[in-house]
Amino acid sequence: PRSVVVAIDGPSGSGKSSVSRAVARRLGLAYLDTGAMYRALTWWCLEQGIDLDDEPAVTAAASDFPLVMGTDPTDPHVRVGDADVTAEIRTTRISSAVSAVARHLPTRAILIALQRDWVDRCSVQGIVAEGRDITSVVAPDADVRLLLTASEQARLARRARELHGDSGESALAATRDEVLRRDRDDSAVTSFLEPTDGVRLLDTSDLDFDSTVDAVVRAVEAAR
Ligand code: C5P
Repeated sequence: PRSVVVAIDGPSGSGKSSVSRAVARRLGLAYLDTGAMYRALTWWCLEQGIDLDDEPAVTAAASDFPLVMGTDPTDPHVRVGDADVTAEIRTTRISSAVSAVARHLPTRAILIALQRDWVDRCSVQGIVAEGRDITSVVAPDADVRLLLTASEQARLARRARELHGDSGESALAATRDEVLRRDRDDSAVTSFLEPTDGVRLLDTSDLDFDSTVDAVVRAVEAAR
């Protein structure tokens, strides 16, 4: 018997990671953070001194990438070989480099294949998978497909609180460049700002965290 597969896409600051994790926890589903895979691969390439613009080298690194990632939403650790990179992959160093890795299509093909295997392996327990191309490419047959959006202002404020602990003027300014540039670079590769056919749009600009989680949980329960 197959349980529910939930695909969630959205831009940075849409809240998709924290919301997806909370939904998985609440419903007892596995959790897959595909952004963490691109981030961990970026860390691995930098660690080896690979030029991120060198597509064949980045793709070769992806094909023997010793990634160890949990699917338990209460313990989303990420390791590459022996190194625990859970915290390191959230730093600005990685955030500002990750789009360069994610733009190589042969590299994406390798990660997408891993992600599809992952979703298949967890489909008995059920899984929430989140990223930029889950609803369109990785799991287009998912039972629930959602695109989380939020106004630019709301997304900047959330990222500023996440990175700097507040959303005052200077925190917003420090966040703006990174968020807007990353969205622009990422949209050149996957069109995650518009829902593809059959994907439900959930605008979270005026929803707090708990209401967003509730809305997603309702969508999943309606599909079960
Ligand atoms: O979601 P998160 O901000 O952690 O994603 C990090 C980066 O990984 C994105 O900016 C994007 O470049 C890449 N990504 C992607 N496809 C996905 C998930 C993430 O290209 N499915």
